[in-house]
Amino acid sequence: MCGIVGYIGSENSADIVYKGLEKLEYRGYDSAGIAVIKDDKIHIRRSVGKLINLQKNIKNNPISGFIGIGHTRWATHGKPSEENAHPHTDCSGKIVVVHNGIIENYIQIKQQLQKEGHKFASETDTEVIAHLIEKYYKGDLFNAVKSALKDIRGAYALSVICSDDDSRIIVARKDAPLILGVGKDENFIASDVSALLAYVRDVIFLENDDIAEIKKDSIKIFDKNGNEAKRTVQKILWDAIQAEKCGYKHFMLKEIYEQSQTIQDTFRGRISVEDNKILLETVKISKDFLNKISRICIVACGTSYHAGLVAKFMIEELTSIPAEVNIASEFRYGTPVLNGTVLTIFISQSGETADTLAALKLAKEKGATTLAICNVIGSSISREADNVLYTHCGPEIGVASTKAFTGQLTALYLLVMDFAIKKGTVSEDKLAYLIKQMWDIPIKVTECLKQSEQILEIAKTFHMKKQFIYLARNINYPIALEGALKLKEISYIYAEGYPAGEMKHGPIALIDENMPVMVIATKSKVYEKVLSNIEEAKARGAKIIAIANINNKEIIEKSDYQIFVPEVDEMFSPLINVIPLQFFSYYVSTMRGCDVDQPRNLAKSVTVE
Ligand code: F6R
Repeated sequence: MCGIVGYIGSENSADIVYKGLEKLEYRGYDSAGIAVIKDDKIHIRRSVGKLINLQKNIKNNPISGFIGIGHTRWATHGKPSEENAHPHTDCSGKIVVVHNGIIENYIQIKQQLQKEGHKFASETDTEVIAHLIEKYYKGDLFNAVKSALKDIRGAYALSVICSDDDSRIIVARKDAPLILGVGKDENFIASDVSALLAYVRDVIFLENDDIAEIKKDSIKIFDKNGNEAKRTVQKILWDAIQAEKCGYKHFMLKEIYEQSQTIQDTFRGRISVEDNKILLETVKISKDFLNKISRICIVACGTSYHAGLVAKFMIEELTSIPAEVNIASEFRYGTPVLNGTVLTIFISQSGETADTLAALKLAKEKGATTLAICNVIGSSISREADNVLYTHCGPEIGVASTKAFTGQLTALYLLVMDFAIKKGTVSEDKLAYLIKQMWDIPIKVTECLKQSEQILEIAKTFHMKKQFIYLARNINYPIALEGALKLKEISYIYAEGYPAGEMKHGPIALIDENMPVMVIATKSKVYEKVLSNIEEAKARGAKIIAIANINNKEIIEKSDYQIFVPEVDEMFSPLINVIPLQFFSYYVSTMRGCDVDQPRNLAKSVTVE
C-alpha cells in the first residue's frame, strides 16, 4: 500500500516523479504529493484524492528541480486530507520524507518528540520520521537517517531529501519494497518496477535493513551492520507497454483480454508436449522429500487464497498428498502444526502482502520447507522463500486481480503435475493427457473471451441488483468465491459464493425473486447435482444465470440466462470458468459508474496487516 518514487539527474524531477506515481496509483489513491529541491529550497505540492488533482495543483503552481520524491497514499493513520498527504517535513521544513509502511511505535516517539519541542502538522505515523531525522541531523543526512531508523519499529520504505544538500536522496527499507533504477547520470527510486520501465531496465532490489545514498552518478548501499553492500543489478524484461492501457478503457479489461497470452507465458518453456515433461528449474523439491512429507499447507489472501483452494483439489487428486489452505491473516496468529515434514506454499501476486509474508516467516521459523508463487520478481515473498515459481503475467495494474489469478492457477497446475511425476502417482498416458489439456488452454481462453458481448447483455439486465449468490461444487467452488469477490470489490454489490450443496443448510432462505443466482454448471462429475441445485433455487423464484458448455441444450430449459464456454477437462475448468465471471463484474461495475481500476477503500499491494 502507498507508492513512492524518487529521481535525481538532469531532467525535471517533478515530471518524472509524477509519471512514476501514475504507474503506482493502484497502490493507493487517497492523496498524493511531490517535493523537489530548487535553489536550496524545498517545494512541495500535495492534493487530496486521485493523482489527477495533484496534476492540476502542479499545473497551477508549477515546480521543478533535478531532485525530487513523491508519494501516492492509501491511508492507515489519519484520514485522507492534505495535511496527512506525503511528503512530510520536519519543523524547519528542510527535511522531507515519503514513506510506505507502518511505524508501530510512532505514538511513543511522537510524545517524546513533542516534549522536546517538535511541532506536528499531521496525524500520520510518517511525520515522526521527519522529526526524528531532524533531531539527529548534524549536517549529514545519511547519518541522521541511520540514527533515526534505530528508534523506529515497524515496516518502511523511505526516501528522504534535505534542502542543505541537493546532491543525494537517502533511502531505506524494511519489510516494504524499494527498488532502485540504475540510469546513466541519473538514478530512480520506486516501490515497484512498473514506475521505472519507461526509463531503465537495470534495477537493484534493496534488501531488508539496507540504507542507500543515491546520487545522480552513484549508488552506495549499506547493510544493517553499516558495511557497504554489493547488490546484484538485475535486468527487467517486462515490456513498458504492458503497463499501459493500450486503447482499453480500463486496465482490468485489458488484463482480462491478456489471459490467453499470460497463461501461455507462464507455462512457456516449462512443459513439453513432445516428451511429456515438466521443467521447473527454480523448484528444488525432490522425489524423496515429496515421499516423506505429511501434508502440503497453502497460505494466501483474497484471490490468491482462491487459487490455493483450487490447488487443494489438484494436489489431492493427482498426488494423494493431503492439502490444506489457509487465509494468511488467520494462519499467522494461529498455532499451525508445522515442521520439516510439511511443504508450505505461499501464493501472492505482489509478493508483498504483509500477512502472507509474516506467515512465510513463521513457517520458516518452524522448520517447514517453503515455496512461493509470485508474479513480481524480486518481491519480498519471492526472496524469503526457499523456492520460487514465478507467474509470467507482467504488471497487473487493475486492483481486481484477473490475469494474475489464472497465472497462479497455471503455475499450480505445473507444480502439481511435477509433483505427481516425481511421486509416480500419474501414469504416462494420464500425464500426456494433462499436459495436452494445459497446452490447449490458451486457445480455449481465446474462445471464451469471444463471449464478452453475450455477458454484456446479461450484465445490462442485472447491474442494478443489490445482491447475488454464486454457486458451484467441487473444484469450481473456489471459482464461485472468486466470482463473488470480483463483483463485491468493483461494483459494491453484496455477493456470496457457496458450495451449491450447502444451500439447503441455511442460505436457501435468502432466495426469492430478488436474488439472482450465478451457477457454474460445466461438465463435471457433479454436473447432475448442480442441476438439482439449480432446480431448488429456481423453485424459490431465483433468476438463474448458468455458465455451461457450448452445445449444452438442456441448460437452456433449466436456467434463465446462459453463458457458454468451451469444454475442457474438469480439472482445468476453473481456468475457463472464471473468465465470464471477471467480464460480468467488469460490465456491472462500469454500468453502475464505479471506478473499476481503483475501487474504493482498496489498494493493490496490501503491505499492512
Ligand atoms: C482481489 C485481489 C486481492 C488480492 C489479495 C492478495 O481482486 O486482488 O484479494 O488477491 O490482496 O494479494 P497478493 O496476491 O498480492 O498477495
